[in-house]
Amino acid sequence: MRRSVTATATHIPELESVLARYSREESQLIPLLQDIQDHVGYISSESMQAAAAHLNIPESSVYGVVTFYSQFYLTRQGRHKVRVCQGTACHVRGAGEIIRAVSARLGIKPGETTKDFEFSVERVACFGSCALAPVMVVNEKVYGNVTPEMAIRILDELT
Ligand code: FES
Repeated sequence: MRRSVTATATHIPELESVLARYSREESQLIPLLQDIQDHVGYISSESMQAAAAHLNIPESSVYGVVTFYSQFYLTRQGRHKVRVCQGTACHVRGAGEIIRAVSARLGIKPGETTKDFEFSVERVACFGSCALAPVMVVNEKVYGNVTPEMAIRILDELT
């Protein structure tokens, strides 16, 4: 049975316009979720309900996709996303010190977001730029040969 949840019912105004851009075919699920995340910042349970209702699929299917792909966030993220590579090459070249410096500066651990929603920090597997190790990516900008001091400077420039 088709659910009658609509974007309007979710009280997330951005959802309504995002949903309107997609046909009701299940194949639209991933692009729809990416679009929701781009506009809302993460995939809330309300967003999952709205996507399921729009595509006429079970909410469990939407949840399965959201939790399978690491690109999707279930909680609100910071305005700036700080990702520190923890792959082997970066680990060997001091990524642990980078993550410690970043965590200390922002007062959060990897996987957390600052209370003001300015920064989120996460550890990521290899970015594929091992020659630049250790690597840190802030928003979509890649920084190579990062030192703890440089990481702090990069963060400070964003505040
Ligand atoms: S291990 Fe860090 S970019 Fe490859």
